[in-house]
Amino acid sequence: MSTLSPSTTPVPAAPRSAPSKPVSAALDHLNLVVVGHVDHGKSTLIGRLLFDTNSVEDGKIERLQAAAKAEGMEFEYAFLLDALLEEQAQNITMDTTRVPFSTPRRAFTIIDAPGHKEFLKNMITGAASADAAILIVDAKEGLREQTRRHGFLLSLLGLKQIVVAVNKMDLVNYDQKVFDRISAELGEFLGRLGAKPTHFVPISAKRGDGLIKASENLPWYKGPALLEALEQFRATPPIQGAPLRLSVQDIYRFDARRIVAGMVEAGQVSAGDPIEFHPGGKRSRVKTIENWPATAPGVGQGPVGAGRAVAITLEDELFVERGQIGAPPGDTPTEAHVFTARIFWLHAEPLKVGELVPLRLGTQQGEARLVAIQRTLDATTLESSTGPASEVKRHEVAEIRLRVRRPIACDAGGRIPSLGRFVLMRGRRIAGGGVIDAVLRDESASADAAGGSPAHRAALLGHRGAVLWMTGLSGSGKTTLATALEARLLRSGVLAAILDGDMLRTGLSKNLGFTPEDRRENLRRATELALHLADAGVVVIAALISPFRADRAMVAEKARERGIPFAEVFVNAPLAECERRDPKQLYKKARAGEIPLFTGIDSPYEPPLAPDVEVHTDRESVEQSLQKIADLAISLARPPEASVGEQGANI
Ligand code: ADX
Repeated sequence: MSTLSPSTTPVPAAPRSAPSKPVSAALDHLNLVVVGHVDHGKSTLIGRLLFDTNSVEDGKIERLQAAAKAEGMEFEYAFLLDALLEEQAQNITMDTTRVPFSTPRRAFTIIDAPGHKEFLKNMITGAASADAAILIVDAKEGLREQTRRHGFLLSLLGLKQIVVAVNKMDLVNYDQKVFDRISAELGEFLGRLGAKPTHFVPISAKRGDGLIKASENLPWYKGPALLEALEQFRATPPIQGAPLRLSVQDIYRFDARRIVAGMVEAGQVSAGDPIEFHPGGKRSRVKTIENWPATAPGVGQGPVGAGRAVAITLEDELFVERGQIGAPPGDTPTEAHVFTARIFWLHAEPLKVGELVPLRLGTQQGEARLVAIQRTLDATTLESSTGPASEVKRHEVAEIRLRVRRPIACDAGGRIPSLGRFVLMRGRRIAGGGVIDAVLRDESASADAAGGSPAHRAALLGHRGAVLWMTGLSGSGKTTLATALEARLLRSGVLAAILDGDMLRTGLSKNLGFTPEDRRENLRRATELALHLADAGVVVIAALISPFRADRAMVAEKARERGIPFAEVFVNAPLAECERRDPKQLYKKARAGEIPLFTGIDSPYEPPLAPDVEVHTDRESVEQSLQKIADLAISLARPPEASVGEQGANI
């Protein structure tokens, strides 16, 4: 006879931090997630925990056993979970399932999601927040890519209470060496992420070893059994001590009353409290706490604490909207325009610098532009890209900077987790999620940033202007590379434009020839134009022969004076190769004496002595050369860190 609540009762979504029925637990209720590679035994473990803690409805096991037998199958503990999920699926239209179980000491709820994506969404949106995690690894298979990714997610979510269950120990003859090796490897990996597990526990979910008590099969293991380890965890203290964060979900009109309904994310709210709504900062006082829905008798005055839904009326007729956050006037969330964040990207199409993506933070919605990527990290290998990147690929974690069109109210740096987590969308699907690390001062909005200043433009565009100067013989490949580079930068959201010798010479420099003086004048005009465009925020790709060192030095000097990032690219191909290519048949004409002063033939070309980048178009593919130039261009265009003042998370 089960003494506990039947686990088949659908668990309501709210209040989300409480179990469905009271249990005689001495300790706080604990929300758990179980993660790990699909085949490493998660369902069996959950089924077995339900069974061993006697958390299943009477007769259920027998029914399932009979059903399995009827189909000629061996009974598996995973069936328990499957049966439970099926029942829940009929009752709840949510992509999270909650599986309750209890020990005499403590009540637990396992929060489960069908996939990676749903898991991340729920965790990040706070639809399901976990206090602790079990990371499950198959002893026989060892660490898998998914194991590492899940470990990464746990660290991203800031989960500190992690127990690693090394499962299927029976398949490795309960060998301590296997356990030690996996524990060391995973411990090292997670340690580097700042997510050091509290315990490593050898188990066999199928046979019940190491789950509720020490197993005879594992005499060498001296630590706690899995459930004992879980019982030691602390429930994340409900953020009662934190200032009020009331996330507004809806406004209702009843009689003459306007009722503001929402969720208390942190702190508590009582009648009479002064309250301020952000973004915006409109202020009033809580007049009443309503019985809404009319199921909570005697709420009247409050306080209503964290994790609870609440409905209030205000003393003043304020225009409050869904998405706003109610807070005490002295301790409100930050209104952020620009912020740094760590994200995890799930969508197959990479997220690119310059891209505009819908963002959701709790009930707030907005559009965010990816301004910069500081660093990307492969969630599996933990390999870090060097320096800024132009896109975040699937399954990468990245440190990024985002700018939202309209400010969002948030609490950065993990102060109030649910107000620092957000998801990014692609269309109507969740494509990634992240946490806000710090809110940055918004250069473009500050009063002293003049409308057209480079800082303002850089903030708008997400990068700054720069000049990339490509020099080389006629036919060396400047135009080809410039065109490809322009396309790549534009695709990455970088405003780029080509300034090409041939183009100039049919327009702005139409009256000039090819004497050294004319070439210098040509370069002077090109320089003025390039610097002007760069000032306006454009990444200028200049492709001119510019054969003389002294002239090129002048260009670099002028850029330096104007504070514009500049780099010289030597597009190097031997004269013989250029002459062989002769795309415009000019070498042929020059050899025939039809074009005087032709560079390389009867006018000199002085190669750069110390170019920032040199590409050899005679022996590299366009793609190889392009990669080198593109990396340079992106680093030039990257906004300088110093121009964006880092503000404390919650000033
Ligand atoms: S630069 O020397 O002043 O930098 P620029 O890049 O603007 O030269 O122009 C070079 C282009 O002008 C060549 O690609 C070619 O099509 C054309 N051209 C015509 N006459 C000459 C010449 N005598 N020397 C070099 N390029 C020439």
